[in-house]
Amino acid sequence: MRKLFFFSILVFFFLTLFLMWYYSFRDFSLGYFVLGILGVLTALGIYDSLQSKHAILKNFPVVGHFRYILESISPEIQQYFIESNTDGKPFNRNLRSLAYRRSKSVNDTHPFGTQRDLDGEDYLALRHSIYAVHPKEEDLRVTIGSEFCKQPYSASIFNISAMSFGSLSSNAIKALNLGAKKGKFFHNTGEGGISPYHLQGGDICWQIGTGYFGCRDEEGNFNPEKFQEKAKLPEVKLIEIKISQGAKPGHGGVLPGVKNTPEIASIRGLKAGTTVLSPPAHSAFSDPKSLIQFVENLRDLSEGKPIGIKLCIGRTEEFIEICKEMVAQNCWPDFITIDGAEGGTGAAPLEFSDSVGLPLEPALIFVRATLEKYNLREKVKIIASGKILSAFSIIKNIALGADACNSARGFMFSLGCIQALRCNTNECPTGVATQRRGLVKGLVVNDKSERVYNFHKNSVKAVSELLGAAGHYHTEELSVHDLVKGDEMIKLANRYFPDTVNTQV
Ligand SMILES: Cc1cc2nc3c(=O)[nH]c(=O)nc-3n(C[C@H](O)[C@H](O)[C@H](O)COP(=O)(O)O)c2cc1C
Repeated sequence: MRKLFFFSILVFFFLTLFLMWYYSFRDFSLGYFVLGILGVLTALGIYDSLQSKHAILKNFPVVGHFRYILESISPEIQQYFIESNTDGKPFNRNLRSLAYRRSKSVNDTHPFGTQRDLDGEDYLALRHSIYAVHPKEEDLRVTIGSEFCKQPYSASIFNISAMSFGSLSSNAIKALNLGAKKGKFFHNTGEGGISPYHLQGGDICWQIGTGYFGCRDEEGNFNPEKFQEKAKLPEVKLIEIKISQGAKPGHGGVLPGVKNTPEIASIRGLKAGTTVLSPPAHSAFSDPKSLIQFVENLRDLSEGKPIGIKLCIGRTEEFIEICKEMVAQNCWPDFITIDGAEGGTGAAPLEFSDSVGLPLEPALIFVRATLEKYNLREKVKIIASGKILSAFSIIKNIALGADACNSARGFMFSLGCIQALRCNTNECPTGVATQRRGLVKGLVVNDKSERVYNFHKNSVKAVSELLGAAGHYHTEELSVHDLVKGDEMIKLANRYFPDTVNTQV
């Protein structure tokens, strides 16, 4: 190939000289132009042949670059030319466009019938009733706050899942918070802490991860005084201790150096430009006993705001131990957020995203049944997250045991995310998951906050329509028996957790 390259350069060189001579009376500059291009290609070819980093370029000088160009635009080629309506990953085109249409409040109906294979193994659906009713959308709220909580919170059944300022842009966070304010639902800060962009007046769930951003001392340990200061903010309605997240359970957080700008560093108390790994485990607790004490401590320090924990289920016996400890100490969190292994992230090692943790369905069934077994189900609210985007996925997860649902990537779509799969590079073309000013300014806050509001409003409306079709007035009435294949869900649960699951789910 290299011989061919040098041979073609020689041929083109003499051809160009010939053309220059031939056209010398008409357009001499054209010859120089061609010679210039030839010079650049020759220099590139010589460089490719001499370098030793890329075998493809050494063996195929110049033309080898096409491989890298095509590779860099493969997500776009895949999305625009190859993928069908039902096979895009992680979210197929049908689901993405549902989110876009609900966000724009335009026609969200679907033509000509389903494109799904209803005879397939994974078909799951709602069992509708002959006696449909009309539930009120505004009733679809749930109170979070057990008897120990002095400031219970009335939450929407659908809220914005944790995403930090840092993984998302300032404009994205502002738009999410303004949308949440208008729609009266909550916005989880993510483990990056509370930034000024979160304080647009929307209700906040302040998440505290292993880095204790916003409430840490110089060594990175939990600092009660700093916690108390922030917990008092009127916007903070709920506080969530993040134990793990479905896309990377046990890995901790990753803030790539390119996204750790001076501003983010000052909000979090870090050194700008460094890649920051939140440790995989908390330093404030190390076993069920100290975890429950930490919950109680935060509740006291926050003057009785609802305190929750977020985790992806891995070792089920560890969760059972935590429940036993709740009973022993007569103290429990006000809510538990269960994140499925299918959940999203800004950046995570592939092995953690693909191969660690329980998916949402079995995890939810397990958690609900375990709480029931220890008589905690009435006291602790369950929030579910993990690829929840359509109204049916909200209904399904509530039927399986959740009280409310959170969505991260659904709300990213409402901000204009096109699933470009570049969250980990700081190159997000839509300005959602990047800190580059030039890209961030493309996300217009007022326009997108309206879309966030619409997405929530239209999703809850669609939930109420499905609920009504099933003959229910409130999501609290849903159970696994509302699902086609509900009996198979029970079998699945029993297969995973024979000792803990109640067969009467
Ligand atoms: C860009 C991005 C950033 C995230 N940051 C956090 C975070 O800071 N803390 C956390 O607990 N989960 C984080 N998550 C996970 C989500 O909160 C959620 O648990 C998960 O994505 C499942 O929701 P989804 O499938 O609706 O995206 C993040 C997800 C995304 C997509």
